[in-house]
Parts: sequence; structure tokens; C-alpha cells
Amino acid sequence: MKQRRILITAALPYANGPIHLGHMVEYIQTDIWARFQRAQGHEAYFIWADDTHGTPIMLHAQKRGITPDQLIAEMAEEHQRDFRDFGLSYDHFGSTNSASNRAIVNDIWANLQAKGHVESHTIEQCYDDEKQMFLPDRFIRGNCPKCAAEDQYGDSCEVCGATYDPTDLVNPVSTLSNTAPVLRKSEHFFVRLADFTDMLQQWMQSPGLQDEVRNKLQEWFADGLRSWDVSRDAPYFGFEIPGQQDKFFYVWLDAPVGYMASFADFCASRPELDFDAWWRPGSDTELYHFVGKDIIYFHALFWPAVLHGGGYRIPTAVFAHGFLTVNGAKMSKSRGTFIMARTYLNHLHADYLRYYFAARLGNGLGDIDLQLDDFRQRVNADLIGKLINIASRCAGFIHKLNDGVLGPVLPDQQLYQQFLDQQQAIAADFEQRNYQAAVRKVMALADQANQYLAEKAPWQLAKQPDQVPAAIAVCTQGLNLFRLLITWLAPVLPDTATRAFAFLNLHDTQPTRWSGLAEPLLNHRIHAYEPLLQRIEESQIAAIIEDSRASLEGSASASNNAGNNTETTATPVDSMHSSETSTSISIDDFLKVELRVARIVQAEAVAGADKLLRLELDLGDQQRQVFAGIKSAYTPEQLQGRLTVMVVNLAPRKMRFGVSEGMVLAAGEPDDGGPFLLSPDSGAQPGQRVR
Ligand code: MSP
Ligand code: ZN
Repeated sequence: MKQRRILITAALPYANGPIHLGHMVEYIQTDIWARFQRAQGHEAYFIWADDTHGTPIMLHAQKRGITPDQLIAEMAEEHQRDFRDFGLSYDHFGSTNSASNRAIVNDIWANLQAKGHVESHTIEQCYDDEKQMFLPDRFIRGNCPKCAAEDQYGDSCEVCGATYDPTDLVNPVSTLSNTAPVLRKSEHFFVRLADFTDMLQQWMQSPGLQDEVRNKLQEWFADGLRSWDVSRDAPYFGFEIPGQQDKFFYVWLDAPVGYMASFADFCASRPELDFDAWWRPGSDTELYHFVGKDIIYFHALFWPAVLHGGGYRIPTAVFAHGFLTVNGAKMSKSRGTFIMARTYLNHLHADYLRYYFAARLGNGLGDIDLQLDDFRQRVNADLIGKLINIASRCAGFIHKLNDGVLGPVLPDQQLYQQFLDQQQAIAADFEQRNYQAAVRKVMALADQANQYLAEKAPWQLAKQPDQVPAAIAVCTQGLNLFRLLITWLAPVLPDTATRAFAFLNLHDTQPTRWSGLAEPLLNHRIHAYEPLLQRIEESQIAAIIEDSRASLEGSASASNNAGNNTETTATPVDSMHSSETSTSISIDDFLKVELRVARIVQAEAVAGADKLLRLELDLGDQQRQVFAGIKSAYTPEQLQGRLTVMVVNLAPRKMRFGVSEGMVLAAGEPDDGGPFLLSPDSGAQPGQRVR
């Protein structure tokens, strides 16, 4: 087989918050593919980095009183700790805020300019006079120009789905200062996408592209290729545009270049690798980007154009996936299903989740659901009940009856061959990222192996002295079948496979290589069997949910989002997904929530809690105490006397500092200038019902 040279990337996580299980769908999907390719003997690299630039990161650092560099250093470490513990086999982890990235961005920019692909115009944009900065779309909210829905983002309406310019919003407000934005002119630089029409038409025909991606490209073409604004005004955390004053490259220009920069840094440590051989036009290497469906636009349209215009090769394909839901709904902080990677790892082995995601992942853009009960049952049934069971049933007899050495022949060579005959089909499934099909095939074979053992019953044979050789032979067969299955699942279960290979005493070979499987292990010494995986207990799932809720309570009881600096911020695109995946409730359900106007009669800091304020709320006929995660946005004095809206019939919650008897409502997060406490118009009275 021809050895392929394959460069694989996953989307670069924002250095703005922790990794959650939604991210992990993509990162596990990518890692399985990289490991699979290496197992075929190909030269495959998984190259990755943090995405460090942009307004949200700048504001996040400001809020925390640290520099962006401090923030991104902290995040790089935290992200990589999570990734390592999830068994991700990336070859290099770089940063978009690196010297190499700046150099390549500048080089691409110079080429785009030299070839006349850049134009500049003066445009008018929303500007926050108080904060003295231009406002990105997501920092402006107002009424939808189409359906008049209130409090919509600056680029699209969650209610009617309209997209528009922030200047079209009715009654726009800056979420940073709460003031009305003004219009201000500034010169911007645009990459003329229309210049690349032919190249992009051709790219659209690439055989590796998913139909859904091709269709999206088709739509964008039909809409007409508008020039892309790649510049931003100061203040901005990013790369300055050479030769310009106070102008920066938009984060989405330098972010994908981070793939190249990270690879360049990797090459610096691997002299045999030649950067240009991988990235220049005519390269015979393959380049694949794994991305979520929310960022197809950047990867399938802008990125090939920028690469081509900048003098580099274009990707072989972009592979997009859908979004994660948990228990059938969008991940929810209040339900405890907004699960951080670290929270999961505190309770469960990474391979369980890797297995479950693999078992659910096809190669389309459909969303995938982590049904927690199904997760536990499926992992227990498949991995412990079927796969691991084969090894644990056989190993003891090999030690007891034959001193830990496998027998000299396979008693059923045909069965072994029958398994082996499936290898190509399983490989094809992995290659096409149809992991669920691969897993299904392997598990069907695991059933067959267990059936074989049940029929031959080595535990019966072992009891009869004249049948001992037969018992050894059956267990030799069983362990050889196990070895096939665990090797095929090794891309999915890297840690379990590593320990299985150690048990099978395969240290010195390259046990993950699929090409070595034609030869069964005979007369081969194995090590003592140690349980490879334990069953998942219901209590462990409950603990994950509990912890995911607790991390919310510890930081805020004001609203789902308020108060936690490290919580991931929903981007406008995320929220567009939310309308697709959130479950709708009936009006009756909604009316169960009792909302009332309340007056804050007392507010004070809470010793030992850096995000909480203790509020005393007057409801007219009673007073309530609530702990709210709004300290980052308000001083106690600002709050005293003002009206707000609270949830009255929430079960009281015991917190470290006292009992919280309800919740006040707030919008936004520290990242986007929030939280913003809701308040009724003047005239409302404490105790009035809100509906
Ligand atoms: N920084 C950009 C990517 C730049 S690539 C040059 C970004 N970062 S992100 O942190 O928001 O998302 C990283 C990846 O995780 C994206 O591909 C995104 O689609 C994916 N996911 C984020 N949340 C997800 C789910 N809930 N479910 C599945 N994938 C999700 O976008
Ligand atoms: Zn609307």
C-alpha cells in the first residue's frame, strides 16, 4: 500500500474559556482519524493550537485584571491538560499568538496585496462612545428590524431568523456600556472573494467534500461572493496590519493560518519535515480540517481563497460535524448537562466517552446526542460485557494451565480468517469517518467471539485433565480474536488498548499497526490480566451532573449565565443552534415559573466568594435572601433600592454562605459586559407578577 502523507487539524479552541464536552465531539472525532491513519502506516500529523485573538479575549482579560498574554498562557495549559487526559494524540500544540503565525499572516497579506486581491473602503459602523471602541456585532443588541422581536444580536434574529447589519437594529444598545451606539466611519480592508470564483468552483467539486458542505457552498455562490472585511480598529488584541496605524487583522484571518504556523513550529523540531513540501501548491500531501457546522463558512469559503491568493495550497477537504446535545436538549447549565471536560474526567475514564461518541458518529452534519443513561448502559454492555469479557474469560486459563504461554496453533483458523476478512470494511468505515459503522462491525464480531467461547466452554474443559490442551487452544483462539478487536478499536480506546497490548506482551512491536494482524500470536507469553475497564455506576453519572450544577451554584445563582468568568460564552452562532436544538415548552410549563418584581433593599459582598453578592429582596408581603453572581458588574451601593425581577418559587438552595431563596434574573456574561440585572419600567411595584 502506498504510504500517504496526511496533515490533520481540529478547529482551534478559543483561549477564552474551558473545554466542554461539545468541543470534545470534534476533538475525539479528529483524534480517532489521526490514530487510524497512523495505524495504517501512513505519515499522519495532528496539528493544533489555541485561537488567541479577538475582542472577547481582550475584554475577558481586562475584566480579570490580567493581560491577554497571561490569559492565553493560562488557557493553553488548561486546555492541553484536558486534551492529554482525553488521550488526544496531537503532534504539536501551538498558538495563533506566535512569531511564526505573524510571519505567515504577513506573508499571505503581502501576496494578496501584490496580486491585487485587497481593496479598501471607508465604512460606517457602530461605535461605543463610552468604551471608545467599535462594537462587534455580538456586543450590540436591539429590536429585530424585520419582526420587531426585542433584545436580538446585531447580526441575526433568534426569533425570525433574519440576518441583517447591526446598523439596521431598532433601538440598538451597546452591551458593554448600556449606551446607544453612534455611527462612526473608518477605513477597512477587504479580500475580494469574487477574484477566486473559478478556483472556488473547482474546490467545490473536490471529491472529499460532504454533500451538505457542497450545498452550502452552492448557496453562497448563488448569493454572490461579497468581499470579506479582514480588518479591525484598535483597541483589538491581534496582529497589527503592517504599514497601518491602529489597524489589526480580524481574528478569523489569522486563526486558520495558525494551522500552518503550528506546523511550521513542529517542523522546527523535526528536521526531516519540509514545511513547503506540505503547504505549497502542487504538494502531494493531503490536508484535512475537522470543524463544527458553525464554522464551515470560514473554512470552506474564505480559507481556500486566502490560501490560494496567499501563494499556498488549498485543503484536500473540510470535514464538518454536527453539535452535541445532552439528554436530547442543548447543554444546559441549570440542568447540570453543560459538562466541562475536566468535570467529566474527574469521574470517568476518557475511553468511555470516546467509545460512545464513536458509536454515535457518522460522517454527516447531524447533531449527536449524549443520552447519559444510554451512555452508561451501552459502555457497560459493549466494552465491559462484550469486548473486555473475551480477554478476562481466557487469560486466567492460559496462566493456570500453560504457565502464561499461548498454545502452538489456532484450533479454528477459519474463524480467525473470518474476522480478519472484515478488516478492510472496518478500515473503510474509519476512513470515511463512519465510526458508528466500524464500531457496529467490531461489536458484532465481539458477539461472535463470546458465542464461540460459550460453545467451547473452556471452563468445563479445564476441569477434565485430558481436555486441558483443548482448553488452552480455545483460550488461545479467544485471546487472538480479542487482539484483533482491540487493535481495530485502538484509535477509539487508546488507553485501554495500550494496557491490553501490555497484557498481551506486545511492547516491542508496533501493536497498533493493522498490517501485523495476519499472523496470530502463538507460543507467545502473555502477562497477568488486570481488569482493563470497570463498569460505569449510576452514581458516577449523578456526580457529574451534580458537579456541573455545583460549578454554576458556586459562581452564580443570579442566572444561568451570570457571574462565571470561565464559562464559555455563547456566540451568536451558538445561539442560532440553540433554536435548532433547544426543547420548546408549553405555556403551562412556563407559567409554573413564578416571576415577581422585587426591590433590592440590601446588598452586600459575601466573605470568601469573589463573584457573589448577598441580596435582600422585598416582595411587598415578604422578604427573601438571594445569592447572586453579579459582583463583577455591580457594587452593593448601585443596587440598593432598585427594582428587579426574581424567580419566587424556586426550591431554596443551601449554599456555603447561607440559603438562597430564589433567583434574580440577569442577562449576558462577564465576557460580553454582563451580567445585566433585569428591571421593570418605572411604576412597577414589588410583588407584582411578571409574565
Ligand atoms: N476559534 C474558533 C475556531 C478557529 S479554527 C481556525 C472556534 N472556537 S470554539 O472554541 O468556539 O469551537 C471550536 C470547535 O468546537 C468548533 O469546530 C466548534 O464547532 C466545536 N464546538 C463547539 N461547541 C460544540 C458543540 N456543542 N458540539 C459540537 N461541536 C462544538 O470556533
Ligand atoms: Zn426577527
